[in-house]
Amino acid sequence: MRIILCGFGVVGQSLVKLFDSRSDDLYAKYGLKPRIVGVFDSKGSATDPSGLEFMKLVEVKKKFGTVKNYANTKNTMSGVEMIKNIEADVLIETTASNYKDAEPGMTHITTAMKKGMHVISVNKGPLALAFPSLMELATYNQVMLKFSGTVGGGTPILDYAKNSLNGERITSFAGILNGTTNYILSNMTTGLSFDESLKDAKGKGYVEADESLDLDGLDAAAKLVILANWVMGMKVTMPDINCTGIRKVTTEDIKKAAKNNSAVKLIASCNKELVVAPKEVSNNDPLCVNGTLNAIAFTSEHSGTQTIIGKGAGGIETASSILRDLLDIRQEITKN
Ligand SMILES: NC(=O)c1ccc[n+]([C@@H]2O[C@H](COP(=O)([O-])OP(=O)(O)OC[C@H]3O[C@@H](n4cnc5c(N)ncnc54)[C@H](OP(=O)(O)O)[C@@H]3O)[C@@H](O)[C@H]2O)c1
Repeated sequence: MRIILCGFGVVGQSLVKLFDSRSDDLYAKYGLKPRIVGVFDSKGSATDPSGLEFMKLVEVKKKFGTVKNYANTKNTMSGVEMIKNIEADVLIETTASNYKDAEPGMTHITTAMKKGMHVISVNKGPLALAFPSLMELATYNQVMLKFSGTVGGGTPILDYAKNSLNGERITSFAGILNGTTNYILSNMTTGLSFDESLKDAKGKGYVEADESLDLDGLDAAAKLVILANWVMGMKVTMPDINCTGIRKVTTEDIKKAAKNNSAVKLIASCNKELVVAPKEVSNNDPLCVNGTLNAIAFTSEHSGTQTIIGKGAGGIETASSILRDLLDIRQEITKN
């Protein structure tokens, strides 16, 4: 399987390490031989139609801060030029999520699909801003667009709702979809103020470079858009979400909730409306998880409410969701 990898940060490098450590069993068990024919970061690119060496890419990135030093002649081909000019079966999009114009991921994904490539995106920006039209573009070009890692990292939340509950009618769902805000709110139950708890989360590397993505609920809202489209069949984008973050949560709110045997959580919910907002959740509710965990409860017509809990992020976890998508694509291709 020929792959172009967009972005070579935490997730991109974890994926390449995963391919390296699992190459024998991926081939033996699934017949999958991933071949990265091109990779680029913000500073440059590396290409080899016969496949780049996985661990050499990681070493070069570590040493020079970019993959462009992979070969003796520095590769100046831009990402879009690479997608247009290099032949590949699948594009894996792992550049940073951006909720203003979704670039550069949007151009990578649309260029690849128009060229007939299947796409796996862990970048939430393009899906949050244009889910319905991207799905239409995929259908029009007869390619698959997969995005398991966008919600729940390695926890298969989207697959569970779509496939394990196949045939059920999901009537509503509610979840904690952002581990950083959950960590901050959980920490505040120990008496820390919002600012102290935020500082602690930053020290542990949990907060996005643009803290607004976490604190103002944008990351949770993007995941809610993806769930609402994929699981509920809605045609919505970011502006359809009524979104409030956690900046105004006080220690008094936390204490008041504790008196009610509850905790304040940033809940993304789809009932009659699509809402992201801090809410009191009973300590007895399975949804009431602490630390950086994510949890989501799906309520369906016949099987009641079921809650999935798991780590919502992490490089290797998210890389494993990309692998799941890749195996799905391979299975579909070999069927035809
Ligand atoms: N980390 C997680 O646990 C996780 C979980 C689920 C989803 N995601 C999503 O996955 C994506 C990647 O996350 P990450 O943690 O790997 O982020 P990251 O470490 O910041 O890596 C982002 C990569 O994108 C590259 N990039 C940024 N702008 C670019 C541009 N204009 N052209 C080409 N490349 C560009 C960066 O290049 P440089 O290396 O040159 O800076 C970097 O290699 C994000 O969209 C994130 O929201 C992450």
